[in-house]
Amino acid sequence: MNEDTYIQIQTIVCPISHEADVYVAIGRGRELSFSIGFNEIDRARIEIAISELTRNILVHANHGEIQLTTIFKDEHYGLVLEARDHGPGIPDISLAMRDGYSTTHTLGAGLPSVQRLMDEFFIESTVGVGTIVRALKWLPA
Ligand SMILES: Nc1ncnc2c1ncn2[C@@H]1O[C@H](COP(=O)(O)OP(=O)(O)OP(=O)(O)O)[C@@H](O)[C@H]1O
Ligand SMILES: [Mg+2]
Repeated sequence: MNEDTYIQIQTIVCPISHEADVYVAIGRGRELSFSIGFNEIDRARIEIAISELTRNILVHANHGEIQLTTIFKDEHYGLVLEARDHGPGIPDISLAMRDGYSTTHTLGAGLPSVQRLMDEFFIESTVGVGTIVRALKWLPA
């Protein structure tokens, strides 16, 4: 998922600091996914992924942003989600990626679901610095 290797078509950055921002980001994601031709099922998958990533920003980091980018590479279109925050960071990423692991006594299903719903997934987090989660979905040929 190296940004240098694909052409960016359109990028939208949505600040996330209130519950309402989650819905704005989902709406933007829906528009972008529609614009490159994702079907209804993939659009729903993308909406869930945006919802989980932006809720994680609110709950675990207070505020941050999500960047939505439509891309083109090797004759394929795709959508990249990049959630970024300067929150507390995640001390143990493999633990956080486990189904059922949550530090807030909720389902602990968010991150593993995003990984399953999207085609590519990347997470980078540093304690005291913040977290970046990048997830990409390709439009089926
Ligand atoms: N942006 C973030 N900043 C800091 N910690 C995070 C962030 N996102 C996730 N985490 C950590 O990873 C854990 C797992 O995240 P995940 O989204 O899978 O579950 P959850 O948010 O706890 O519960 P659910 O998403 O099911 O409501 C969280 O409990 C939290 O400790
Ligand atoms: Mg979550």
